Amino acid sequence: MNSLRKSNSWTKLEQLADETGDDRIADYFKADPDRFEKMSLRLGELFLDYSKNKISPQVMDALLELAEQSPLQRRREQMFAGDAINVTEERPVLHIALRNLGNQPIVVNGRDVMPDVQASLEKLRAFTEQVRSGQWLGYTGKRIRNVVNIGIGGSDLGPSMVCRALLDYQHPDLSVHFISNVDGRHLKKVLKGLDPETTLFIVSTKTFSTQETLLNANSAKRWFLEQTQSTTADMGQHFVAVSTNIKAATEFGIREDSIFQFWDWVGGRYSLWSSIGLPIALSIGFDAFIELLDGAHTMDQHFLNAPLEANMPVLLALIGIWNINFLGAETQAIIPYDQALHQLPAFLQQLDMESNGKSVDIDGNPVSHATGPIVWGQTGSNGQHAFFQLLHQGTRFVPIDFIASLKADEDTKEHHFALLTNMLAQANAFMNGDTQDKQYASCTGNRPSNVLLLDELSPRNLGALIALYEHKVFVQGAIWNINSFDQWGVQLGKRLANDISRDIDGKSNEYDPSTQGLMDIVNRHLAGDKADSGATAKAGLVAEESGDQ
Ligand code: F6P
Repeated sequence: MNSLRKSNSWTKLEQLADETGDDRIADYFKADPDRFEKMSLRLGELFLDYSKNKISPQVMDALLELAEQSPLQRRREQMFAGDAINVTEERPVLHIALRNLGNQPIVVNGRDVMPDVQASLEKLRAFTEQVRSGQWLGYTGKRIRNVVNIGIGGSDLGPSMVCRALLDYQHPDLSVHFISNVDGRHLKKVLKGLDPETTLFIVSTKTFSTQETLLNANSAKRWFLEQTQSTTADMGQHFVAVSTNIKAATEFGIREDSIFQFWDWVGGRYSLWSSIGLPIALSIGFDAFIELLDGAHTMDQHFLNAPLEANMPVLLALIGIWNINFLGAETQAIIPYDQALHQLPAFLQQLDMESNGKSVDIDGNPVSHATGPIVWGQTGSNGQHAFFQLLHQGTRFVPIDFIASLKADEDTKEHHFALLTNMLAQANAFMNGDTQDKQYASCTGNRPSNVLLLDELSPRNLGALIALYEHKVFVQGAIWNINSFDQWGVQLGKRLANDISRDIDGKSNEYDPSTQGLMDIVNRHLAGDKADSGATAKAGLVAEESGDQ
């Protein structure tokens, strides 16, 4: 059994949770008029207010003691030093090297990885500039107008979220699209209306073995060849790949010099900083991509060097631990008051839930406490008119992170004013509540939130924001003593998808009656068109067994 719950700091926090159970957050402000100043922090153009949490000064001290006594600081050093902290896959975890723009050496197995990182950035720069300037032409001599990224999970969510967030920075004559779902309707919807002669596909897959991506890539290739009546040789100007699996990418038909590499020490959900960020660089330009990396690098340096009590990722992580482990929160809501950040909750969902959705610690023992929360959310003010009712008056305890950028567009300042004042009103209402004569109209309040303000939604600030959450997840994983960098749970579904695809036509009776019954219905339904589409589906599933991500 994992020993964290028996530690002194954990026991102290349990006692404090009992003792402060009836406290009101609002009273903490009455007791200390400087609470806002004390419990807020600025780093560059990011400002975090964490004063509206149900955290007394004693609780904060005990949380910091927990962090101090945990493996956090040792593991942080190990991560930055390139040690193999992803123990189940025996790999370092080095997304921080991808934005190590000062180029300090980071040595893995006796070799500095920074020259490789530099070389891959250089390749990204050269290609990005060719496409954006119109030097890179399609096989009929036309310039590229549309980029379609085909990938899923970490090979989709990061680039897609960032491209959408930074739409204002997008090249005026280049649109970037994303196909992720294996549902053929997703592919058809994106391809509809695109001109193959001016379209560039990026097949983005670390392993080049992911069923969904291979199916989509093969269908896109077929679409291109059918539409253009061209040969596979003509594909060269229209298909590039981002992968660690050069062999599979070349076998697919991509020229070796059009493969953008990265390394097994970059986890899928941490990969937008690598060549996986190619769609970002194409959309916003290489210089802005470097600013994104630089923003993340600033957060890395802060995370590495700031004392725990003034360390933004550490504080966010400790607040989360308090809410999850001592106040019983099961979920964490992410509410950006910024339409451009509408995909941020989905991105953070993968980042957090794939990383810390673990119930065995790093030594293989079952954990005796809750780990990663269910992360969810959507933009404000939309959420106010959908699910906020439950957050105000429901029986659940849901901590919220509000995120907004201060800078408004010149022509919609009035809207921005309404957006920000709505957010402030909500954070205030969640804390203070409201007492009415009628019970049904009262809001109890005392519900915690953080507010994160960006001076503006720039590449640099977005980079810092994403890195903030990456490190928050890391800190929680280190304190819970789990491995935040593997995802073995995902493999089971992949394996079974293979098995069911193979067995659906009834040759096996190894399945439970429910699964078998459903397989029979699906099989009968598909019988008509199975001859061709079934064969393609199976072809896409073959190489799926490896746990590599
Ligand atoms: O299934 C989840 C996952 O393993 C993620 O970790 C990863 O980002 C994604 O699949 C895609 O993997 P790949 O880039 O190898 O196609």
